[in-house]
Amino acid sequence: MDCTDSDIESFKDGRMAPGRGGFDTARGALFDTRRMQAGRMAGTGLEDLVAVLRRDGKPHLHRAEAEALATGETSFFRDLPMFEELRERILPELIVRRGTERRLRLWSAGCSTGQETYSLAMMLSEHFPELAGWDVRVIGTDVSEPALQCARSGRYRRSEVERGLPRRFLERQMERQSHGWAVSERVRGLCQFILGDLREMNRAVPPFDLVLLRNVLLYLAPIERGEVLKRVRKQMAPDGVLILGAAERAEDSTALFAGELTLGCSVYRPANGR
Ligand SMILES: C[S@@+](CC[C@H](N)C(=O)[O-])C[C@H]1O[C@@H](n2cnc3c(N)ncnc32)[C@H](O)[C@@H]1O
Repeated sequence: MDCTDSDIESFKDGRMAPGRGGFDTARGALFDTRRMQAGRMAGTGLEDLVAVLRRDGKPHLHRAEAEALATGETSFFRDLPMFEELRERILPELIVRRGTERRLRLWSAGCSTGQETYSLAMMLSEHFPELAGWDVRVIGTDVSEPALQCARSGRYRRSEVERGLPRRFLERQMERQSHGWAVSERVRGLCQFILGDLREMNRAVPPFDLVLLRNVLLYLAPIERGEVLKRVRKQMAPDGVLILGAAERAEDSTALFAGELTLGCSVYRPANGR
């Protein structure tokens, strides 16, 4: 899909400005109404929302609207204690275990506009020089193509960068540009962004060593959460690590994952993993 700078800006405006909806801001009032409906539907998922939108009999209300309602709220290094846990314990352990293959696969599932994916890549680049010469990939996936277009552009406004990106990273991993900041080529080179719905995902990719699935399950119906966790589990290495958002738990999927609560985040390992 072609995407201009102005499309990206419109998407960001629609996503960020309170009281406005979606990437087509001309339909802001409509989205506000839909948002109120969505609020009343707490606990239901995207498909239920699509069904409500369709019930109105207005053909232009379809997935794009539901997509716009699924908030893309995100920021660099969101939930800092989780990133500290990654840096101090989880990544060093994984790197030791992968010392023979010298390959690492990280997945930011539901990556929105890319800040989580780039935070992971920046951390690897900044704190783990021993990975030079390794085969390292950080994959970001999302159901929203407009969000992914923003992610792929690697460009962020000052206000986005100021939300969470430590000064050290800003100076070393981003480049100043006229419109704001751009992620360095080195960090972008580690990242790839792919469109995909976590409820339907069947990609045959190398198993992931680390999965961040944060602030995504919240938007799914309970039955879908279990399905997503099952599919995520299939994509993980047996000794891989799954991290959910601060308010999320995998308690309905105890047959799949063994949980471990650490300071600031819920960490899971595949049940029967090494
Ligand atoms: C609140 S954002 C979270 C972004 C990031 N993980 C974070 O914690 O900062 C939720 C993202 O999940 C995506 N999402 C929602 N349902 C999804 C699904 N079924 N498959 C893939 N992505 C989905 C939304 O498009 C949105 O970008």
